[in-house]
Amino acid sequence: MLFLQQQWLRQRLFVLGSLVLGSLFFLVAREGTLDRLQLICPIKDKLSPAGSSGQIPLHTLQRKQALHLKLHRRNSTREQLRMHHLIKQLPRAIIIGVRKGGTRALLEMLSLHPAVVKASQEVHFFDNDENYDRGVDWYLKKMPFSFPHQITIEKSPAYFITEEVPERIFKMNSSIKLLLIVREPTTRAVSDYTQVLEGKERKNKTYNKFEELVIDTKTCEVNTKYKAVRTSIYTKYLEHWLKFFPIEQFHIVDGDHLITDPLPELKLVEQFLNLPSRISQYNLYFNATRGFFCLRFKFMFSKCLAGSKGRIHPDVNLSIKEKLQRFFHPFNQKFIQITGRTFNWP
Ligand code: A3P
Repeated sequence: MLFLQQQWLRQRLFVLGSLVLGSLFFLVAREGTLDRLQLICPIKDKLSPAGSSGQIPLHTLQRKQALHLKLHRRNSTREQLRMHHLIKQLPRAIIIGVRKGGTRALLEMLSLHPAVVKASQEVHFFDNDENYDRGVDWYLKKMPFSFPHQITIEKSPAYFITEEVPERIFKMNSSIKLLLIVREPTTRAVSDYTQVLEGKERKNKTYNKFEELVIDTKTCEVNTKYKAVRTSIYTKYLEHWLKFFPIEQFHIVDGDHLITDPLPELKLVEQFLNLPSRISQYNLYFNATRGFFCLRFKFMFSKCLAGSKGRIHPDVNLSIKEKLQRFFHPFNQKFIQITGRTFNWP
């Protein structure tokens, strides 16, 4: 009798153990790494209660977004997409730059909002003459499917510094919302340099040191011909954009803040886009291995940005760094004065 009871107990324990192990294997397989597994557990801040975006209640939008993802993953046909009332819409907001400001992180984080759909690739419609000549229908085709009450956002950082772009965007939609994400100008220049350096190294090519490029050897002054320096003179480009759009149509995102504490920056963007506040602490978690915030959408879906985001920068000679910071200072002051945003820049 005792033997039978023990056997029964052993069987139960075996079934229970298999269930626990099975669940664990499922979680590990789904999330890919143990690191992520740990991070999906402590959910401090659940998704906010239902509200409205436009006229659609949030829970409807969330269900629609899940459906949208499902259809997208299954490579559904156009007819299937149309049946679910999915359409292509021109962007109502564009992340115009700046290169290495954190444009990818901003787009990915915004697309956690149930009312936002992103164009995954950089479209380069307004800065590339060949693309622009293909017409706005070509541009529309490049947009993802979305529900009518969702807004589409695309990002092409080259827009900010390309002369023809503001006028071209204005001609398409004069009331479009423009998002500009900036970082401390010297850091951005180093990041820009690091990206180019990595490209050269991949092709086994040699490249100058950062210090050699940013300083004009003849004058010993900052080399404004070097593109990485020019791109960091934000006010110069912004003033050109202001010939076409009023400052109210721009929202400036602090890219350094987006790295260290993304949620407050995202809340400001939600306000600017007239969207209900839906991105929450739950959607973002700090990944110590990556050293950056990563994204989480609903239970179990999580991702970090690709390794090309968050590169290790080379050490820069301190006096050159300070020289650059002094060079950018007056331009920064002008930028701050125009935009009304303040930064923790030197
Ligand atoms: P670094 O590679 O210099 O660190 P962009 O997408 O415009 O090219 O910007 C790239 C920068 O986004 C990266 O520059 C990185 O610092 C920043 N970034 C901001 N948030 C990030 C995040 N959550 N994950 C990775 N990179 C992020």
